[in-house]
Amino acid sequence: MVSGSLRVALVGAGGVGERHAATLATLNDVDLVAVTDVDAARAQALADEHDARTYPTQADLLDNETVDAIWLCVPPFAHGQPERLAIDAGVPFFVEKPLGLDLGTPEDIARAVEASALPTATGYHWRCMPGVERAREVLAGSPVRLATGAWLDKVPPVAWWTSRSGSGGQLNEQATHLVDVMRALVGEPVHVLAAGARVADRDPELVDPATAAVLSFDTGAVATLAATSALAWKESAALTLVADGLWVQIGETSTVLRWSDRVEEVPDEGAGKVRVDAEFCAAVRSGDAGAVRVPYAEALRTHRVGIALTESAVAGSPVDLRTSDE
Ligand SMILES: NC(=O)c1ccc[n+]([C@@H]2O[C@H](COP(=O)([O-])OP(=O)(O)OC[C@H]3O[C@@H](n4cnc5c(N)ncnc54)[C@H](O)[C@@H]3O)[C@@H](O)[C@H]2O)c1
Repeated sequence: MVSGSLRVALVGAGGVGERHAATLATLNDVDLVAVTDVDAARAQALADEHDARTYPTQADLLDNETVDAIWLCVPPFAHGQPERLAIDAGVPFFVEKPLGLDLGTPEDIARAVEASALPTATGYHWRCMPGVERAREVLAGSPVRLATGAWLDKVPPVAWWTSRSGSGGQLNEQATHLVDVMRALVGEPVHVLAAGARVADRDPELVDPATAAVLSFDTGAVATLAATSALAWKESAALTLVADGLWVQIGETSTVLRWSDRVEEVPDEGAGKVRVDAEFCAAVRSGDAGAVRVPYAEALRTHRVGIALTESAVAGSPVDLRTSDE
């Protein structure tokens, strides 16, 4: 339980760190007090904008500041230590997706989170979008038969993104948002089969410029998922769902629901991105770790699917996600 202003800190002052800092600045009774980044100039620039202090490392920050929560906005390759430092200091954390490049580190972190009972949240903000909430209401009792997700984009302007050891590839790094919404609205994936576009003479460390996958779910539904970074602009990122007599398309700025006799549109001008931070602040205030839509353990379930898709694309064979006791 926290009364008064929440004192929060941020690790990783890059693109999404800046976005969270700007969002937190709009929330009542939330003060960003400290920032750290391995790039000290970046940390300083963001701290200056928000009248916050900087520290050379997260360990220094946690040693010198009393904070109620910390946002971990580091790239996929940098997970593990930031989460462990937060847990060891007893500080609730928000961590950006994806949870990492493999399963070992996130599984370890999940066990430590569970043992600590700390509130956590993750960057799966699509679940907080008004259109996803509306789709969930409408789809209750009307099972999805087919989902088709597509993320058609450019290479993001960050140096680590194009290497497998930096981002883990586009299914792990970006299409994971679509997988997360599939899990919320369709069911749990039980089998996945993915393939990556092959390019002659390409460095194998570079991520595939396109990937396509087929997923089947415990509900009996099926889905396709496609992603590409071959464009010079972001064309779209969207998930289309079909239930009996209902078509739903969830995009980043609007969700459309269509029946045979009517159409409904739910616009989203960034509400999901604000809610994901506001919801975590509320959970930290109340101490209720369950008051968050996608806490760490739930994000790990989505991450397992992303890793299975990535492994399937590399191996060229299907992955069975059912555990041995199912
Ligand atoms: N949820 C969303 O909508 C959303 C949007 C954009 C990015 N992201 C995710 O956020 C993560 C970061 O993306 P970005 O675009 O901000 O990347 P970025 O490269 O712009 O920023 C990352 C920052 O982290 C710093 N950093 C790296 N390792 C660190 C460490 N160990 N300690 C402290 N700082 C460290 C880097 O110096 C850099 O400033 C990625 O996983 C990305 O997928 C999520």
